[in-house]
Amino acid sequence: MENLYGLIGYPIGHSMSPLMHNKEFKELGLNDTYHAFEVKPENLQQAVEGIRALGICGFNVTIPHKVAIMDHVDEITEEAAEIGAVNTVVNKNGKLIAYNTDGPGYLESLLGIIPRNRLNEQSVLIIGAGGAARAIAVSLARFGVMDLTVGNRTLERARKLADDCSVHSKTEAVSLEKAERLLDKYDVIINTTSVGMSPNVNCMPIDLNNLRSGTVISDLIYNPLETMFLKEGASRGAKALNGLEMFVNQGALAFELWTGIKPDRKRMKENVLKQLG
Ligand code: ATR
Repeated sequence: MENLYGLIGYPIGHSMSPLMHNKEFKELGLNDTYHAFEVKPENLQQAVEGIRALGICGFNVTIPHKVAIMDHVDEITEEAAEIGAVNTVVNKNGKLIAYNTDGPGYLESLLGIIPRNRLNEQSVLIIGAGGAARAIAVSLARFGVMDLTVGNRTLERARKLADDCSVHSKTEAVSLEKAERLLDKYDVIINTTSVGMSPNVNCMPIDLNNLRSGTVISDLIYNPLETMFLKEGASRGAKALNGLEMFVNQGALAFELWTGIKPDRKRMKENVLKQLG
């Protein structure tokens, strides 16, 4: 049986997901395939009808459909509903079940460098309050990280996200200026904005003058792999975590939801790295 999986978004650009999943299918001896479909916002409903009609077994959802897709599925996990966005859908015998693996994928990346029993007591600053920030903040709050701060250019958006996390965790909203001033208070600092992404590689979302050595500094961007933010952090004695980890982990979690098989994350990462050059 050959199953078809996919990605819907607009524009699809240079997504690494088809390569990452197709190589892993091959490595595991599966004849399944993963294809990127460019779907304009006005065609989302028809695209989902097509997915149902064609029996596509599962798909990823990316910008700009991560929120809108929620109106077209049959079931949404509690975590995805709390995040307010979906990046993975499983077609279970015709029933579309929606998940968010971005937040859990990021959580797993952090657990790769911070012991499970220590993560809860870390003071975490999330920079940004968009979709990616929402996924990470909600997943960390649900995990039990008790001291979360959301710093955003638009304070109102940070307040909304902090509010949404407050059922699980004490979450504060701050301006970027205040975050910069208080920077030495945080153990983990995560950039979820696109500031520093290629081609604007010389930009940073906040200045790191007050960074404490030993802090974990993390960027969701993986193009480039070493952003200015990570380089500057590392030069001040921080431990850097790049965005490739989360990208691979969110993909691996989706892969497992679709196929029931745990893929080889190390191999997936190596394949993406090779492609990134
Ligand atoms: P995503 O879903 O990828 O997180 P998004 O919803 O567009 O994308 O959110 C982008 C985030 O990056 C927001 O927090 C945005 O700040 P605002 O809420 O103030 O718009 C932040 N962002 C984007 N460009 C920025 C910049 N030049 N400086 C600071 N923050 C920026």
